[in-house]
Amino acid sequence: MKVHWERFHVYAHFSTINNLNDTSMYPDNEPIIEQLDLPFEELMMRMERDDFRGKSSLTIRIGDANDLIREIDDQSVDLIATDPPYGINFEKNEWDEPDRLNWHELATHFKRVLKPHGNLIVFQGWSYVAETKTILDQYFTIKNWIIYDRVKGRGAKTNFVSTREDILWYVMDEKIHVFNKIDSTIKKKTGGMGLKNGTKYRALSNVWTDISPIVPWSKERVKHPTQKPVSLMNRIVEVFSNPNDLVLDPFMGSGTTAVSCQILGRHCIGFEKNPEYYQIILERTKQ
Ligand SMILES: C[S@@+](CC[C@H](N)C(=O)[O-])C[C@H]1O[C@@H](n2cnc3c(N)ncnc32)[C@H](O)[C@@H]1O
Repeated sequence: MKVHWERFHVYAHFSTINNLNDTSMYPDNEPIIEQLDLPFEELMMRMERDDFRGKSSLTIRIGDANDLIREIDDQSVDLIATDPPYGINFEKNEWDEPDRLNWHELATHFKRVLKPHGNLIVFQGWSYVAETKTILDQYFTIKNWIIYDRVKGRGAKTNFVSTREDILWYVMDEKIHVFNKIDSTIKKKTGGMGLKNGTKYRALSNVWTDISPIVPWSKERVKHPTQKPVSLMNRIVEVFSNPNDLVLDPFMGSGTTAVSCQILGRHCIGFEKNPEYYQIILERTKQ
């Protein structure tokens, strides 16, 4: 397989936005300050340099994640945040082929490339999450199992509507992982918001019901069947990494993780094997 560098952009740093649910926050007017083609080694070297701080970069490669991940340096990534094929053959899409994902092999590389304080966030569907978790538990320490309620789901006459997405959060080290705590604005069913330290907010729970799904009329919608909302990925990038950190998404899809990294000033490496989706990523992240 011919793997080649498609592009490497360095963008101005985007200051952290206040309202992470505001999906109209796109950095499309920010200047490109450098545009380069670089191999991973060069990127890694630049990550060490002071003049790279305060900037955000995007490195997207087309190809198979199982091959491309081998090229990433040991202990170089702060956060892996990924939404891999679920293995439910959703609408018989060719990308959703569970047999192709070797979770043991992937976990070995995830563990190799993550820094000691690194986080791993993996999206799963309910029918596969237990299987994947059993494997990942052998490599990492589970920190939480988040449920994202995407509200909309397929109706079924003989079953519940499935609106949950499972998000597994793993750490390399229980004591030093990154966790930027955020408050919840979700109203308690028991009434009131709850008072903590004199404010009306309380800590966010592991059930996320406050993020709007992608609907046909969403402004951010592109042509990808499992596109995640930018506000969801913003939350993940914001909580589990710091500005200037390196975020890896080996299964980019339409590139939502990359968009969040642009917004929040993180360096991002992403892989996508489908050329059509790859083009969508380039369009969405174009400055
Ligand atoms: C569930 S989708 C990700 C959707 C993404 N979160 C978004 O917001 O658009 C998974 C993606 O992984 C890609 N994919 C599947 N197997 C892959 C592989 N071995 N290497 C790279 N990409 C792969 C598929 O083409 C698909 O676009």
